[in-house]
Amino acid sequence: KHIVIFASGTGSNAAKIIDRFRESELARVKLLLCNNPQAGVLETARREGIPVALLDRHDFYHTDRYVKLLQEMPADLVVLAGFLWKIPDNLVRAFAGKMINLHPALLPKYGGKGMYGERVHTAVIAAGDTESGITIHYVNDQYDDGEIILQKTCPVLPGDTPELLAGRIHKLEHTWLPQVVEELLRV
Ligand code: GRF
Repeated sequence: KHIVIFASGTGSNAAKIIDRFRESELARVKLLLCNNPQAGVLETARREGIPVALLDRHDFYHTDRYVKLLQEMPADLVVLAGFLWKIPDNLVRAFAGKMINLHPALLPKYGGKGMYGERVHTAVIAAGDTESGITIHYVNDQYDDGEIILQKTCPVLPGDTPELLAGRIHKLEHTWLPQVVEELLRV
């Protein structure tokens, strides 16, 4: 099976998926698509020998270039692991039920455009919530809105900073995203 990852940043989640499937009989990570030439995830892909496609914003939103690229692979599962652009409708349609997103909060709370990374954790702490967590969901044509596959929670502790909460959230992500990817590809 072919896994494709979209990422925009550090790529710690992409790295965990790559680790999990490096020697796998079930699936391999075949391509990393990235919208940020400075992203740390590019170094991970290079080190792991995984092909990279740097996204051209115009083509991403105005052509079928990437739909065709993934269909020809063919991608069996597309994972958005810290990817900050909204997925264009042609790609959402082409990969309905085969594209998942990882969000660092308990959707439907703290989702939507602009709610990513530390902004999410700052909002959770400011709201005085006593728990947060992760959501893995199918991607539809709205930000952070598709059918939820899995949620896992963690406490928000008194005196938590966004960094401390982010660390707790990352642990959940690194444990559960590779697990969900494997389960979805097993069926
Ligand atoms: C993760 O917290 C993910 O939930 C959010 O962006 C972050 C990506 O982290 N969408 P990394 O690039 O995988 O380290």
